[in-house]
Amino acid sequence: MVSAMAGPELKQSAKLVLPGGKEATLPVVVGTEDEHAIDIKSLRTETGYITLDSGYMNTGSTTSAITYLDGEQGILRYRGYSIEDLAEHSDFVETSYLLINGKLPTKDERVKFSTMLTRHSLIHEDMHQFFAGYPPTSHPMAVLSAMVTSMSAYYPDSLDRNSAIDLHITRLLSKVRTIAAFAYKKSIGQPLMYPKNSLKYCANFLHMMFAVPSEDYEVSPILEKALNQLLILHADHEQNCSTSTVRMVGSSGANLYASIASGILALWGPLHGGANQAVIEMLEEIKLAGGDYKKFIDDVKNKRDNRRLMGFGHRVYKNFDPRAKILKKMCDEVLAHLGVKDPLLDLAKGMEEIALRDDYFISKKLYPNVDFYSGIIYRALGIPTNMFTVMFALGRLPGWIAHWKEMVESPDTKIGRPRQIYTGEQLRKFTPIEQR
Ligand code: ACO
Repeated sequence: MVSAMAGPELKQSAKLVLPGGKEATLPVVVGTEDEHAIDIKSLRTETGYITLDSGYMNTGSTTSAITYLDGEQGILRYRGYSIEDLAEHSDFVETSYLLINGKLPTKDERVKFSTMLTRHSLIHEDMHQFFAGYPPTSHPMAVLSAMVTSMSAYYPDSLDRNSAIDLHITRLLSKVRTIAAFAYKKSIGQPLMYPKNSLKYCANFLHMMFAVPSEDYEVSPILEKALNQLLILHADHEQNCSTSTVRMVGSSGANLYASIASGILALWGPLHGGANQAVIEMLEEIKLAGGDYKKFIDDVKNKRDNRRLMGFGHRVYKNFDPRAKILKKMCDEVLAHLGVKDPLLDLAKGMEEIALRDDYFISKKLYPNVDFYSGIIYRALGIPTNMFTVMFALGRLPGWIAHWKEMVESPDTKIGRPRQIYTGEQLRKFTPIEQR
């Protein structure tokens, strides 16, 4: 039994009564948005007990001043600024600065940060050989994660905890964009397009993705704005699977590149960042089978073949994902501007409408998440399906970096090392092979 009570000095604490009547008094930690946690740091030493929380459904792994999210109310804020405000008024570079440095840049800081990103956009020429070594069927997430790990080989001073971290951060933010575009160019057999210093961050990415040396390419301001907004919406999401992975790997003292590469790999899974690709594959499958999405929803509800409505549901949002709301609107605007009619959008809207009225989804509080509409926008921008999760990684990069930095700078950081409750065999004697 756990009960909250006011402790001495008006600080709150919670009392835990264990089997046998032993009691533990545990401090209550309160965040700036009035979130409450029971601090169990002393629990095992005092009582011999640990807590068990599969999937960390109720476990705070850290305190953090980066992102606030309230899944019940559908609120998401970076450093106190609402996601709606940032998506409308900021751009990705400025939002990255905000996440990493904790404040919006002044004009001078902004110019300095952008200039640094522009100057560090090229990758070492020797790294070009790596792209040639991958088969054309390689998933770009495999290439991206390997290339980011390889960056630690090109910048070996990153292995020293006291090296100039701002420079490594700049390199990552700038070069991951180049690597992502190069991986795509390589996969379609086109020449690599070098970054152009006259272009801003998102325009430069579109240039590296879609320009060819034989003709001029002009970046559409609408596409540039859409990409900025998409990346802002993905830029951080507090202690999700990939960010927790970055913190966990980084807590061992692994360098920034290795830690970020681990985040990229965690993001790849279809229950996390891989869901944007899975949504499009699901919609294409339904379309190919004749478009009967009602039957698909029925299969999902009856858990046939363990089907899930990809792009729906979230560990923390039990209300609308605020990013999905912005994306749905953006989706209509971008497609209308480009004059694109995408049958997958009609399917997605039809499925959303049914799901939002269906008791299965209502009772389980399953709403569209950030991945439900993002893929349709990426398709309209001309980005191929297997690059969607790479786009997510590009967007999430400043968030991962901000969390890594917060973690290494915190005096409270310890190597991440959960415990377990062992459920295997008790001590038994080794049996020689002839007797087995
Ligand atoms: N479609 C159908 N049923 C679902 C879905 C879904 N998309 N999501 C959850 N459920 C059901 C589960 O079957 C389970 O039902 P049960 O109680 O009858 O067993 C219940 O809802 C709870 O689901 P869990 O998997 O326990 O919830 P959890 O919080 O662990 O999972 C997750 C969250 C992984 C996002 C889940 O909702 C899911 O698989 N969604 C589809 C994949 C997806 O879109 N992922 C992207 C998430 S956003 C991001 O990472 C960027």
